[in-house]
This record gives sequence, structure tokens and C-alpha cells, in this order.
Amino acid sequence: MAHKHYDAVIIGAGAAGLFCAAMAGRRGKKILVLDHVVEPGAKILISGGGRCNFTNAKVGGENFISKNPNFCKSALASFKPQDFIALVEAHGIKYHEKKLGQLFCDNSAKEILAMLLGLCSAAGVELRTGHSVTEISKAEHFRVETTAGTVESTALVLATGGLSIPKMGATGFSYEMARKFGLGIVETRPGLVPLVFTGERWAWMQGLSGVSFDSIASHGKRKFRENTLFTHRGLSGPAILQISSYLPPGGALVLDMLPGQDAYEVLLERKASRKKAELKTVLGEFLPARLAHALLQPPLGNHTIGDMPNKALRNTAEMINRFTLTPAGTEGYAKAEVTVGGVDTDGLFSKTMGAREVPGLFVIGEAVDVTGWLGGYNFQWAWSSGHSAALAL
Ligand code: FDA
Repeated sequence: MAHKHYDAVIIGAGAAGLFCAAMAGRRGKKILVLDHVVEPGAKILISGGGRCNFTNAKVGGENFISKNPNFCKSALASFKPQDFIALVEAHGIKYHEKKLGQLFCDNSAKEILAMLLGLCSAAGVELRTGHSVTEISKAEHFRVETTAGTVESTALVLATGGLSIPKMGATGFSYEMARKFGLGIVETRPGLVPLVFTGERWAWMQGLSGVSFDSIASHGKRKFRENTLFTHRGLSGPAILQISSYLPPGGALVLDMLPGQDAYEVLLERKASRKKAELKTVLGEFLPARLAHALLQPPLGNHTIGDMPNKALRNTAEMINRFTLTPAGTEGYAKAEVTVGGVDTDGLFSKTMGAREVPGLFVIGEAVDVTGWLGGYNFQWAWSSGHSAALAL
């Protein structure tokens, strides 16, 4: 029996898959999008606290992590944030910049999903959700077997995203299929993820849950100035989430709790001007009081600043400006916003996302070893990579 034939079957009705489908459909291609969950675009709906940080006003290769840092540039240059913003505006979606170029919907992430589904429908894209793909093979064409029957296609686009938030339907399907077709996988790990600290050494962190402060979190040369937040299991907040994507397992981060100021000079000045002040009062002037108190547990201890030798002030300052912390681990994929690693870009053409050795096979979005910073970069990668593939289908 002849099976229905499509120009392309796209697996994954998330940001990348839906956008790719809409753009290819617009070009007259006959497209089928398959997803195993019933509701498409679930991550779009929960993103940005329900307001979807859909792009960033300024996006460059430096905002992404990949084994090949140049790979993402071509797609990002051919479909820019401004191109997506133009679509958002044309659909009457109101948005604002929150900070650092991060663009959010004024109202709801639902508007972005509705726009994508509307574009798909206008372009004649067929969307089948709630069906699992059981087998994919390739002879002359791709043959995709699903729980709702078999279809054939000239091209196959893997767009099932990364491993983050499995309870929302995340799977390693694209990695599995990419492997099957001979592509490599760059080892994956949770990214944009809270860090966990355990054991006696970090016991002082307990009780600080909810405390947040301005900071620079760094690992090697990579630095992020944003807030750090104590959680009941360790650290989170934008600075920590950003640096988590760069931390190898067992790696240490350095936290500057007084960005832009030399804590030693500040303490020396206070020692001269306010001899009788207690150290915890002085620290409480530039750190949240609960944090200042917690930091001054033994062995550092609280003292009158005027009685402290400069060496002790230097030790305190070192902790404030260059606190080295090695987390026990992360909160894992259950809490990670993204997956670092994925389908190795060595096997893909950067202009089209097509597989070098398998004509007609494409991989887009988070499934690829291209991981954006926090701030709208991951969606921009989904739009740009989806767009590049759409032009090549
Ligand atoms: P995405 O995960 O969106 O879609 C993959 C689709 O494939 C899903 O619909 C899934 O059901 C389907 N699928 C998986 N396995 C399958 C299988 N075996 N068979 C069939 N279908 C399968 N980024 C950003 O730029 N700004 C933001 O504000 C946020 N906020 C945010 C919040 C939270 C809580 C999370 C978890 C993530 C973010 N992100 C983000 C990241 C962003 O959501 C993510 O990078 C993109 O959704 C990736 O788009 P993809 O289309 O590649 O995957």
C-alpha cells in the first residue's frame, strides 16, 4: 500500500519544529509535524515565567556554547532577532525589554505559540500530536512509522529538543536517531540549572533560602554579572544559571559578592573611619544582613573591625570578592532549562542544518550541540536553525 508522501516530516512540535514547518510550508512544501505529546509547544508556554523571553535584541556567536563556536553564526546571521521581532509585531503581539536586551511578551507566551500555530495552519502544515514514532528508516525516501500509521518523506527533520524537563515530554529521540544515521553526539549535561551544595562545609547556606544579591559568577575567563539566589539546596539566580552551563562536573565557580569594588579597600576604609563597628554590621552595609551573618560563622567569626589585623581583613575580603565554591552537583534535567551538548555539528552543514553524509536529514533547535545563554538566546537559536533548514527542504 502506498503511504502518504510529504516533502518533509518534522519530529517535534516545539519552537524549532513549528517555526521550521511554518517557514517551509510557506514555500509551498508539504509538511507533516509529529509530536508524541498532545499539546504542542509546551516549553514555549512555560518559558520566561509564562511571558516567553522570545529573543534577545543583541545575539552573536559569543552567546552560545558549542564544540564548534562558529557553527551557529551562519543560521543566526540569516535569520536575526529583528526578523522574528518583525513577525511578532506583524501579529500585534506587545512586548518589552526586561533587561540586557531580553524581549518578553507583555501579556502571555500563549501569543507566541498561537502565532506559530497560526503560521503553520496558514501554510497548510499538517500537525499530528499524541503519536509516537516507532521506527525510521531510509531507502530512496524516509519511512516514518508511527502509532497512527506509516508516512514517507523526502526529508526528515529532527527537532525533539534536549533532555530538560522529562515530565513535559523531553526525550533523547533526536540523539538516538542521529546516532542511527551515523552522526556523533557531544556528551550532554544539564545547563542553566541550579547548583546543589551538600555536607558540613556548606551547612551555613541552609537558612539563607530566598536571599538574593548582586554578584559576578565566574569559571575561568567566563563571567556573568547578575543576581545570585540561595535556594534550600544551594544556589540559583541568573548569574548561577548562566555559569552552570560552563561548569564541568566537579568544577568550581568563583563568586564575587561585591562586584566592581575591592572589598579589602572597603574594609580598610571602614577600619579607619569606624573602628568600633562590628564586622557583621559593616558587611551588612553591602551584603544582605542574613548573608553577612552566615558568612561570619566560625572560623571567620565576628569581630570589632578596629581590632582586626589587616591580614584578617584581607581573608574576609578574599571571601567576598573571590569566594571559590565547588558544588556537589546540579538539580539535574528535572530543573535544567536547557541541555548542553547534543548532535555534533561536525556532521552538519551550518548553512542548512542538513547532515553531511545523509541527504535529506536535518537536525534543528536544542537537539543540536548549540546551547544559548539565559536571555532569549535559546529561542533565537530555535527560530534561526529552523529557518535555515526550512530554506533547504
Ligand atoms: P522543544 O523542547 O521546544 O520541543 C521539542 C518537542 O519535541 C516537544 O514538543 C516534545 O514533546 C517533542 N518530542 C520530544 N521527544 C519526542 C519523541 N520521542 N517523539 C516525538 N516528539 C518528541 N529559552 C529562551 O530563549 N527564553 C526563555 O524564556 C526560556 N525559558 C525557559 C523556561 C523553562 C522552564 C525551560 C525548561 C526552558 C526555557 N527556555 C527558554 C529554553 C527553550 O524552551 C528551549 O531551548 C526551546 O524550547 C528549544 O526548542 P526546540 O524546539 O529545540 O525543543
